[in-house]
Amino acid sequence: MTRAEAWCLHASNVLVGGTGLVYGWMRYFAQSEDEFAIVNHPWQPTFQHAHVVVAPLLVFAVAMVWRLHVWKRIRSGFRSRRNSGWALFLMVWPMILSGYLLQVSAEEFWRQAWVAVHVATSALWCMAYLVHPVRPKA
Ligand code: HEM
Ligand code: HEM
Repeated sequence: MTRAEAWCLHASNVLVGGTGLVYGWMRYFAQSEDEFAIVNHPWQPTFQHAHVVVAPLLVFAVAMVWRLHVWKRIRSGFRSRRNSGWALFLMVWPMILSGYLLQVSAEEFWRQAWVAVHVATSALWCMAYLVHPVRPKA
């Protein structure tokens, strides 16, 4: 992986993960002082829109390193950083799919289901991504 590719991945993770975490916090934990407010925080729509707009950057950055980093190491049975690498490999699909399916689902049951999948897989992705670049000792 080149330095530029690594930085594209880091930057897109900060943007997409950051907007997602802030939006999630505003949606589920923030409390508006106005009891008639339809959003919990005045910036909630801004973060929601920002998250949707920057999301393709992460998809692009992962695709950029797919063949020569991800797939190559999976195929070759590479040992180093295998667990966190596999976690990223397995999470990326349901994370992306659920992000889009939650937007196009009209029924409440399915919306809730895709939100649950999206929140769970993206939280795991963020944790695996924090561990993955750390060099194992010895
Ligand atoms: C990197 C970590 C990510 C985190 C922490 C994250 C977090 C979240 C959260 C908390 C929500 C709100 C769910 C709800 O409506 O209750 C959300 C929605 C969404 N996410 Fe993510 N996400 C991440 C990655 C992605 C990726 C990679 C994509 C797409 C490629 C994506 C696309 C979306 C979309 C389209 C929505 C729906 C926004 C809406 O219309 O409400 N997210 N995300
Ligand atoms: C979607 C999946 C993956 C992503 C997004 C990803 C991302 C990254 C990133 C950002 C780095 C740090 C690069 C740097 O700062 O030099 C890295 C390093 C590394 N990753 Fe992954 N990785 C993935 C999958 C895997 C898998 C499946 C393996 C092994 C089975 C693996 C093994 C390694 C190793 C050994 C390094 C150390 C440096 C190198 O060889 O480039 N990764 N990865």
